[in-house]
Amino acid sequence: MRVVGILIGTKGRGSNMAALIQAGLPVALVVAPSPEAPGLARAAELGVPTLALDPRRDDLVAPLKAAGVTVLCLAGYLRLLPDSVLDAFPGRVLNIHPALLPRHGGKGMYGMHVHEAVVASGDTETGCTVHQVTSVYDDGQILGQLRCPVHPGDTANDVAARVLALEHELYPSVVRSLL
Ligand code: GRF
Repeated sequence: MRVVGILIGTKGRGSNMAALIQAGLPVALVVAPSPEAPGLARAAELGVPTLALDPRRDDLVAPLKAAGVTVLCLAGYLRLLPDSVLDAFPGRVLNIHPALLPRHGGKGMYGMHVHEAVVASGDTETGCTVHQVTSVYDDGQILGQLRCPVHPGDTANDVAARVLALEHELYPSVVRSLL
């Protein structure tokens, strides 16, 4: 059986993490680089074991393997991962990006920067992408996308809210199909 681990960001809300857990996926462990990460408290409320550990300094593979994790989902974690982590879960480290990759991806393209770029570009459509994680930002194979319109006069906040609702739909469905 495949088991999911989730790596969240230090400042992230953890809403994608909560969507994965609430979709009933077998989530064995939620990790964040800092014990202050708001998402860790949310994970604990949802009954999932948590761990504070910075993958750039500490061994992430051993605790994930000890928890039985076979698929690692990044949810708001913004750094590149060490090769040791990618090698331990070949093709099974996933990320969700709040745009239609390959548009509006790459280093520095995260959070509101993405939605601001979408509005500035005049794109009439955006969405979200689940992709495999590699050693290059937002570059791995695309596993799923959902699309939504960008309306004339939309602010980046309008677009962000529309896309986030789609993220909560897409991520659990892609992970479920992988399990
Ligand atoms: C999401 O927009 C996701 O696409 C990106 O980081 C954000 C995390 O949000 N990778 P949350 O912490 O899951 O609410």
